[in-house]
Amino acid sequence: MNADQLELLAAAEAAAENSYSPYSKFAVGAAIRWSDGAVDTGTNVENLSYGLTLCAERSAVVAGVSSGQRKWQEIAVWVAAEQLAFPCGACLQVLNEFAAVDCHVILGGKGQQPVLKHLTDFLPNPFTADLG
Ligand code: THU
Repeated sequence: MNADQLELLAAAEAAAENSYSPYSKFAVGAAIRWSDGAVDTGTNVENLSYGLTLCAERSAVVAGVSSGQRKWQEIAVWVAAEQLAFPCGACLQVLNEFAAVDCHVILGGKGQQPVLKHLTDFLPNPFTADLG
């Protein structure tokens, strides 16, 4: 884990402070670094209907793509609890859409040793299709 990756994790931790999670009380923050070096953050945004809840990772992706980003290098995910959380399946497929080949996933939580992974560790066989 290098200094830039720890900095990204700190940005994810800060983003978790904005979590809107009145139902689960499980605050998550994400910070994503794009290929041009820009960083966007996101947090989980829950909804009374539950099913409309948006995860922190997808919030971060949507923030960057909305400003023109298309390729990410690293994403850090922070859980405001004494545990690590691996990105959910929906987030993995969305992350895959914009992933650089050598992208990293950094996981952290309160009192937890940060973990460095590749997207393919979690999603070795993403959905792909030739829609042409
Ligand atoms: N959550 C995330 O933000 N990211 C994940 O990868 C898994 C789960 C959120 C959704 C919900 O607000 C809360 O964590 C509990 O599931």
